[in-house]
Amino acid sequence: MLAIETEGLSKDYQVGFWRPRPYRALHDLTLAVEQGDVYGFLGPNGAGKSTAIKLLMQLIYPTSGHARILGRPAGDVEVRRRIGFLPENPSFYDYLTAEELLTYFASLFDIPAAERAARVARVLDDVGLGAERRMRLRGYSKGMVQRVGLAQAILNDPDVVFFDEPMSGLDPLGRRDVRQLLLTLRDRGCTVFFSSHILSDAETLCNRVAIIAQGRLAAGGRLTDIVGVDVLGWELVVDASPEAIARVRTRARRVTVLHEQRHALDLPPESPEAVLQILTDAGARVVSLNPVRKTLEDFFVQHVTGAAPRGESR
Ligand SMILES: Nc1ncnc2c1ncn2[C@@H]1O[C@H](COP(=O)(O)OP(=O)(O)O)[C@@H](O)[C@H]1O
Ligand SMILES: [Mg+2]
Repeated sequence: MLAIETEGLSKDYQVGFWRPRPYRALHDLTLAVEQGDVYGFLGPNGAGKSTAIKLLMQLIYPTSGHARILGRPAGDVEVRRRIGFLPENPSFYDYLTAEELLTYFASLFDIPAAERAARVARVLDDVGLGAERRMRLRGYSKGMVQRVGLAQAILNDPDVVFFDEPMSGLDPLGRRDVRQLLLTLRDRGCTVFFSSHILSDAETLCNRVAIIAQGRLAAGGRLTDIVGVDVLGWELVVDASPEAIARVRTRARRVTVLHEQRHALDLPPESPEAVLQILTDAGARVVSLNPVRKTLEDFFVQHVTGAAPRGESR
């Protein structure tokens, strides 16, 4: 059974006040997410990510197509019990503390009173909210509110979570914590579906991704298939004399002087060992050697900039 599947999912919004007309925000989206996947749903702002997630949550209804979660129609009551959802830019009634708010949610989720306090404490630990949990949400930073949103989304021990831009508004440490949380959820057997417009968030996390642009699926599949594992070249940084560099100059695609003796060499994919040998024989010291691979960013630029310009519709 698939965790999430959509078939030909499309959504038209009505836009324009005097002359209402449909604007197609999502076009014929077909996806299959396996149980246990950490699935990145990627695309630039306005691509249709939130629209797709809202359709899956049945906050809005499709113009055509359908969606299933854990083998049942999205919106099915049984399914709702087993999923968690973090909306984009969550906000909460801010006179409560995080603890009070989550205890309230726990009662809505029918978590028995005897278990509530322990469950709330656990999810607050999971999202890394410390002593602030007894502070009113009013005083929270954007990153802390985001953490409360995540805690709320995992309170019912879901089998599938939908996070809309979980890393938005977070500093690098916060992003790292969220990445860690997603992996913890995966290790507990939860399927994680999250959207992002920042590719590096996905690159280290996801086993599968879908890339959407202008409401259409531009690519999808295993990250390794999309990005490829081929080495495109090597970036070698060495401290070497100009004479040593001269001996390998024809073997490098480009040589950049960083400062004084330090040089960066752009080498072709064929073995860099020969170049290293010549340089070290000439007394050079290796600072670093890194393979250059195609990144998701390259892929994204290729596909998204290759897409047709967006139609004038609003
Ligand atoms: N309620 C709405 N009414 C009209 N247009 C909308 C509405 N919600 C979103 N849109 C438009 O649909 C497109 C996709 O939006 P959205 O799904 O929010 O994109 P993303 O989450 O990828 O940034 C955008 O062009 C947006 O302006
Ligand atoms: Mg969005």
